[in-house]
Amino acid sequence: MNINLNKNDIIEILSDKSTKLFESADKIRKEFKGDYVHLRALVEFTNICKCNCLYCGLRRDNKKVDRYRLKEKQIIDCAKLSAQYGYKTIVLQGGEDEYYSADKIASVIKEIKKFNLAITLSIGERPYDEYKLFKTIGADRYLLRIETTDKELYKKMHPMASFENRLNCLYNLKSLGYEVGTGCLVGLPEQSLESLANDILFFKELDADMVGIGPFIPHPNTPLKNASSDNFDLALRVMATVRLLMPDINIPATSAMETLKPNGRIIALQSGANVIMPNMTDTIYRKKYEIYPGKICINDSPNMCVNCIKSKIESINRKVSVSKGFRYDKE
Ligand code: 5AD
Ligand code: SF4
Ligand code: FES
Repeated sequence: MNINLNKNDIIEILSDKSTKLFESADKIRKEFKGDYVHLRALVEFTNICKCNCLYCGLRRDNKKVDRYRLKEKQIIDCAKLSAQYGYKTIVLQGGEDEYYSADKIASVIKEIKKFNLAITLSIGERPYDEYKLFKTIGADRYLLRIETTDKELYKKMHPMASFENRLNCLYNLKSLGYEVGTGCLVGLPEQSLESLANDILFFKELDADMVGIGPFIPHPNTPLKNASSDNFDLALRVMATVRLLMPDINIPATSAMETLKPNGRIIALQSGANVIMPNMTDTIYRKKYEIYPGKICINDSPNMCVNCIKSKIESINRKVSVSKGFRYDKE
């Protein structure tokens, strides 16, 4: 099956209210990815960020954040525990924090490789040579959402940043052989359905290996605090539409979806998603990593999350994968 949708088709699908889209996306997920759900252990290792994204609670200008950085050893210990819990992938996520030099990141990757984990980096825009170094040492994947492909909106959301550089980073990562994850926020102020349709077409054009769609959730300590947070349904539609167009990629059921709707991740798993990223961050740091308000699991422990999510997956008759879950894995 190869579904080809143009911009107008996508806009029509996104404006429709019927649930047929979700049923189709679920069917395609089952056909191409099976019933396995891949778990990725998420370690939020620094909440320090030099960027000032208008939507994000960790933005530089938010002085109300209690900032932290994990030591290299803490990150490595967390990876070891993740492997012991049965995770096959670890995601190292943080703000754009220059404390973590290329050498520091490289040495962490080298140690973590010993645990036979796939490594995903989510540490923002870095020079080509750094991406190359991380790949050579053993990083497997990289997450870098484009956030929006609407250049005007991008500029408003990231006053100092360059859209071109972000694009370059994504193409650099692709050319270096990473599995590349990207994605967008859904529901940003002034974001149109046409702009979301363009985002979806961009994921296809990049040939992203993973696409994460997050509903925008306004944070009280940001300039967008008064924006609407009624973005769950549209985000789910965008996610399901991505599944129609990109049947064999990995699609996470994002935590932001669950923040806006009880069981949001399970609903997403039944509407095209096949990946979940449970939180492996130590409980004491969780509430400090407040990208958006109402984040799930902030009082829970890594052990609670892994057990919780496994039982939720089994409760809908899906299986927890024991492979690393690369896009082209056969299971
Ligand atoms: N609501 C939802 N998602 C957000 N992110 C940042 N701020 C918010 C928010 N207010 C997302 C961005 C980023 C990811 C790590 O978190 O898309 O890529
Ligand atoms: Fe920093 Fe990422 Fe938040 Fe932007 S979205 S301010 S890059 S942590
Ligand atoms: Fe964290 Fe359910 S996934 S408690």
